[in-house]
Amino acid sequence: MSELPPPKDDGLYIPTVGKQSSDKHYFLMRYINIFTTAITGKWKGLHYIDLFAGAGIEKLRGSEQLQWGSPMIAAKAPKSFTRLHLCELNRQKYQALEKRVGDTRPDSQILNGDANNEVHNITREIPQGTLSLAFLDPYGLELDFETLKVLAAKRADLIIFFPDRLDILRNWKHYYYSDPNSKLDHHLGLGSGWRSVLENAPPNNRAEVLRKFYVERVRQDLGYQHVEHERIPSQGHPLYYLIFCSRSEVGSNFWRKISWNKPGGQRTFHFD
Ligand SMILES: C[S@@+](CC[C@H](N)C(=O)[O-])C[C@H]1O[C@@H](n2cnc3c(N)ncnc32)[C@H](O)[C@@H]1O
Repeated sequence: MSELPPPKDDGLYIPTVGKQSSDKHYFLMRYINIFTTAITGKWKGLHYIDLFAGAGIEKLRGSEQLQWGSPMIAAKAPKSFTRLHLCELNRQKYQALEKRVGDTRPDSQILNGDANNEVHNITREIPQGTLSLAFLDPYGLELDFETLKVLAAKRADLIIFFPDRLDILRNWKHYYYSDPNSKLDHHLGLGSGWRSVLENAPPNNRAEVLRKFYVERVRQDLGYQHVEHERIPSQGHPLYYLIFCSRSEVGSNFWRKISWNKPGGQRTFHFD
């Protein structure tokens, strides 16, 4: 497993992030490495999609430590993706991203806009017969279920940020319950029936019930039969899941292989 040397301050915009971002990148980098090295050749191309791409470099809160963001991890993969397709809403981050990724992969598609709209422009650029990896990593509930449907119509494995502890379980009752058009409704899919699921779940087991409900939707509505999950952060108070979805058992086996060892070198077990 090759690690990347840390980035240097290049004078462009660098957002500050929480330290759990390193755990997320630990799994992403390992998956990209195994995906690009093991699968190349079997498809007409391997594409990387990052709909909430960030600025490409980030600084860990409370330190001076810089780390590569997800699009740069993909841009620097030891075995190159055929093409990168990136989207970022924030103008300042987009400008930094465009420069950073453009220096390494000038052929990339880099869009400044809302992921839930731009996903159409991105999937249009991806040729038939190719396989994609989509990293879907907003701050909260910005990823609509409809966007997953657009990606699922292509041949794409997904790594989804699912903010159960960070947002859903904290806010469902007070913020989302009474609004049928809430962010949570769009995230889980309009008409998903989440209200009765959460109401009827035992309070000490809601996280588990919610995750299984989401995974079932991914299976039934999107056709992904192979779904894995990983708690982030790997140690300490849980905030969110990374949910990995593939149509192939091969993808799932890769994910299990790369996630057996956790950040920090431990094999950990979670209690939700
Ligand atoms: C968690 S950060 C992404 C970090 C990046 N994926 C990484 O791992 O380095 C989420 C990003 O999504 C962007 N964002 C928020 N809402 C968005 C939307 N609707 N469409 C596209 N980007 C959005 C934010 O500006 C932010 O840069």
